[in-house]
Amino acid sequence: MRPAARSTSGADLLASAARYLPGGSSWMWSLPPDLAFVVDRGEGSRLWDTAGRAYIDYVLGSGPVLLGHAHPALVAAVQAQVEKGSTFQWLSEPMVRLAELICEAVPCAEMIRFVSTGTEATMLAIRVARVFTGREKVLKFEGGWHGIHDYAMVGNWAGSEAPYPAARPDIGGIPKGAVESVLVAPFNDLATTEEIVALHGREIAAIIVEPLQRAIPPRSGFLQGLRDLSRRHGIVLIFDEVVTGFRLAWGGAQEFYGVTPDLATYGKALTCGFSLAAIAGRADLMETANPARKGTLDWALLSGTLSGNPLACAAGLAALGELRKPGVYARLAQLGTSLRDGITAAARRQGIPLQALGEGPIAQPVFLDPARPVASERDLRAADGTRATRLGLELIRRGIFVTPGGKMYLSLAHSDEDIAQTLQALDDALRVS
Ligand SMILES: Cc1ncc(COP(=O)(O)O)c(C=O)c1O
Repeated sequence: MRPAARSTSGADLLASAARYLPGGSSWMWSLPPDLAFVVDRGEGSRLWDTAGRAYIDYVLGSGPVLLGHAHPALVAAVQAQVEKGSTFQWLSEPMVRLAELICEAVPCAEMIRFVSTGTEATMLAIRVARVFTGREKVLKFEGGWHGIHDYAMVGNWAGSEAPYPAARPDIGGIPKGAVESVLVAPFNDLATTEEIVALHGREIAAIIVEPLQRAIPPRSGFLQGLRDLSRRHGIVLIFDEVVTGFRLAWGGAQEFYGVTPDLATYGKALTCGFSLAAIAGRADLMETANPARKGTLDWALLSGTLSGNPLACAAGLAALGELRKPGVYARLAQLGTSLRDGITAAARRQGIPLQALGEGPIAQPVFLDPARPVASERDLRAADGTRATRLGLELIRRGIFVTPGGKMYLSLAHSDEDIAQTLQALDDALRVS
């Protein structure tokens, strides 16, 4: 069938999206018809849709856009690079310089390999651990998100009712072998994790954890406990820093929480909006990617056609150049605190049981009495998720773009007035959701 004639009208584009994109969506949620829109452009903290409506953006492309949309330093860097070529697969100056900079910034990073997405990064970090240890299993935490590869789509959601450490697939199409190689532990529960490791330790190649799991902070001692446990059992500890990297602190969650893993994965804020991700870590682990090992089973191939392309690496250099400026992380922390405090204050005024999870420039409203603090995915099940989704939709109706029921991401482009405007809309949205 021939595509319809092109038009920039929102209605036409939405009709075409519904026709040509599954669910009329680009990701795992869609909006009801009265709120659906197509993005025309973004600038700073704002988005505009093709019908001309403006939104304060707290989705930020699912987190990457930590500097705000179309940041001039990124635009200039990418424009300068694109004229020199966009991909070579081979070494380029932006790639090498970015590798140096990340290894300077990140405590665990002695060497690095670039890939294109966070999914690839976590999948391949697990591969490195398997090659290095000769073991197969990976232990992850219930509710931890590591992308959409087969080992990651296990034990994430509330539907997974299996007792620990058995895991259920979250979606279709996950082979039994993949499911059987994953063990699931409850986040922030070191004692249960230790029991699982005591039983399966010799089979476990890696423990992978989001140091800040979604918006749930680690309990004091939990990450250090994982560090000690993994060391005792010869297990590779992987911090998935796809969200926390260059966001919570210049050195990411490992600097913020003061625990250094063996490997860490990066994406999102690394380039503030371009296709680049990375696996970084101890040199002896990263050496498994050395092409001199080709032809042996000691080799962990980690790469792809566009991995580390100079366009994305130039964007990464420009982004990190902005993020390493003085005061950046204090400002991001302040923005997060104002938003979280504002959300809880609004709920308190209205007598609504709600807590705002998160750390740094991340906030997630959760409809659960603050007397029951959330420390795990199972704790979250007691919260009213339907109400959180309704709140999100009401915010979108009021020009505040959020992932309904999910996290809100802040950028350096968000102003205090943006927060004030958002909290005003939230006050109103809470009354009707
Ligand atoms: C912690 C974490 N790890 C990995 C991923 C996967 O990254 P990507 O969507 O780039 O594949 C995500 C994506 O949201 C994430 O939040």
